[in-house]
Amino acid sequence: MAPAGIKRIGVVGLGAMGAGIAQLAIEAGYETVGREVTAELGNSARDRIAHFLQRKVDKDRMTAAERESALDALSLTTELGAFADCDLVVEAIVEDLAPKRALFAELEGIVRPDAVLATNTSALSVTEIAAATTRPDRVVGLHFFNPAPLMPLVEVVRAELTSDEAVATALGVVERFGKVAVPCHDTPGFVVNRVLIPLLNDCVRVLDESRVEPQALDAAMTSGAAWPMGPCALLDLVGIDVHVHASEALYGRLREPRMAPPPRLVAMRDAGLLGRKAGRGFYSYG
Ligand code: CAA
Repeated sequence: MAPAGIKRIGVVGLGAMGAGIAQLAIEAGYETVGREVTAELGNSARDRIAHFLQRKVDKDRMTAAERESALDALSLTTELGAFADCDLVVEAIVEDLAPKRALFAELEGIVRPDAVLATNTSALSVTEIAAATTRPDRVVGLHFFNPAPLMPLVEVVRAELTSDEAVATALGVVERFGKVAVPCHDTPGFVVNRVLIPLLNDCVRVLDESRVEPQALDAAMTSGAAWPMGPCALLDLVGIDVHVHASEALYGRLREPRMAPPPRLVAMRDAGLLGRKAGRGFYSYG
């Protein structure tokens, strides 16, 4: 059963996270509208989703008919006006406060009064984003992990003024996505990033202190601590720029030295060594 009243989901921004969230929504049977700034970016996100669904068909985890009907449920737009009929809109745009606040202020003039607005921010304040609207009670955090279709967790973040109804709606959708929901309050980094960001920063400092190579550190953590992937491979997956930005946001709010991005990561970011998406980070990608 769909959570009460939720039939149509909007996703703003179809980068790695937004496309993953849109994939989850169509697989869960929701009509889904995805918005990108250009038709080319939207089409390329749909192609990536179609590819991952095809891999599921190849591996007998989905039928070809299910794939077709999931893809039929996805429509693309470049206009925010297309969200007028959405019951839930999930924002997954650039991780900066000003554009997120501007987007939420615009969205509330478009969606119905009962629609829930969610942000996928990983380290910014959901409360500050919600405060850009006149109805902060219907704003909630829905923090997915990268890659969203594979990672089971979604943090459901209650900002200062979020209503019980908005949290319940978000929890219902996360359950329908087949994910593990962890409801939490709007504290810096929520639950996982509060732990993971300083931990990954420690890992990068260890590279220099222990004078080991990224491959050796990754082997140590996968073989010695049973991590599914090593910290350098994980940073490449997340994106060095995304991680540095999240570290700066957490450091800005908590002032704990371990939150501050290590200079080595800042230098990598400045040099464009952003990880998988740039073809080069700690590792090179063909
Ligand atoms: N979207 C959809 N499907 C995807 C995908 C994606 N981005 N990436 C891979 N897949 C599919 C592919 O079809 C793939 O199968 P094929 O290779 O046969 O096509 C299938 O998933 C399995 O992929 P893998 O073989 O790569 O899977 P794996 O068993 O090696 O697991 C992993 C991959 C789940 C990423 C695993 O390595 C893992 O758990 N790594 C840790 C990831 C992690 O910690 N993420 C959190 C990052 S922190 C974060 O996100 C917080 C933040 O705010 C920044």
